[in-house]
Order: sequence, then structure tokens, then C-alpha cells
Amino acid sequence: MGTLVLEELNAGNIVAANTLTLKPGQEQFVAPVSHSIAEAYVNPTTAWPRVVLEDGEVVGFIMGNFDPDADQEEFRSCIWRINVKAEAQGHGVGTFAVRALADEARSRGFERLTVLWESGEDGPEEFFLRVGFTPLRETPYGEKLGVLAL
Ligand SMILES: CC(C)(COP(=O)(O)OP(=O)(O)OC[C@H]1O[C@@H](n2cnc3c(N)ncnc32)[C@H](O)[C@@H]1OP(=O)(O)O)[C@@H](O)C(=O)NCCC(=O)NCCS
Repeated sequence: MGTLVLEELNAGNIVAANTLTLKPGQEQFVAPVSHSIAEAYVNPTTAWPRVVLEDGEVVGFIMGNFDPDADQEEFRSCIWRINVKAEAQGHGVGTFAVRALADEARSRGFERLTVLWESGEDGPEEFFLRVGFTPLRETPYGEKLGVLAL
């Protein structure tokens, strides 16, 4: 594992973030980064988009959402999206990104971080369990809601 650094999404890294390529079969579990970038643009007060650099190269993207007034609990302090480039998976990049987002949530006064995921062979379930999320319930759409106490 190289040196990991978190950076705000900016003009210098946005193209690299938008071209992160996942492993075959993983795309069905996460929307493209371009969707997150568009969502961050239209929700500038709540979205928290960040990239992860490994030895200076963009290898990951995470977007949090912080909205204490959201009606649904799962959108108040949550991981909206996380992607790690195929070649960099298994290096601790995802864990680093989740911890950074958890630190940010804690500093904003939140006591929980949530995430929604779909179960499936190439899906992220095992990753979220390893980083400490506990499945709480299933949504009406069949996604699992996981919670991490901060
Ligand atoms: C899920 C994802 C972000 C994990 O990122 P990563 O950088 O590979 O994760 P890490 O290297 O930090 O792994 C942390 C732990 O989870 C485990 N892990 C990660 N992905 C795993 C998988 N698919 N199956 C089993 N274990 C997995 C690692 O082995 C590691 O375990 P360890 O602590 O015992 O060593 C990455 O696989 C990805 O981008 N997936 C495609 C997009 C996606 O599904 N995003 C989530 C949408 S909700």
C-alpha cells in the first residue's frame, strides 16, 4: 500500500475521478462517478465529494451527504457513493475513505454514519461489514441499510 491522501474534488482531479474503472461485474452496484459529480453540483450544501490519491495518483472516490434535516434517517449522514479503481482494490483505499468520511461526520456532530448497499456476489457487502457497519434493516427496494456508530 502506498501513501494515501484525501483531496477535495477539484478541477485538477475531476477527470481522473470520472474515469476510475471498476472490476468486471461491480458496475451494477454503484452509479458512475459522473452521477455523483452532477449530484454534488446541484446539492452543494450537503454533498461532500472527495478523491483518494495513492502515491499521487487518483485511485478512489467517495461522496458523503450531510443533511441533519433530511426526513429519512438514511440520508442525514451517509456514504452516498464509494468507488476504488480495480487495480487499487484491496490496498486499504476504501477503508481510508470511509474513515475520513466518518471523521468528517463526527466533527459535524453526527453520531452515526449510514450506507445503503445491494447484496450480491460482486457487491460491497463484505467490505462494509469489515469496516464496521452493522446491517440494520432492508429498504422496500431490497437494499440493506448499514449503520456505523461514530
Ligand atoms: C467496495 C470497495 C469500495 C472496497 O474498496 P477497497 O479499497 O478494495 O477496500 P479495502 O482494501 O479498504 O478493504 C477493506 C477490507 O474489506 C475486504 N473487502 C473489500 N472488498 C471486498 C469484497 N468484494 N469481498 C470480500 N472482502 C472485501 C478487504 O479484503 C479488506 O479486508 P481486511 O480488512 O481483512 O484486509 C471497492 O471494492 C469498490 O469500489 N467496489 C465497486 C463499487 C461499489 O460497489 N461501491 C459501493 C456501492 S454502495
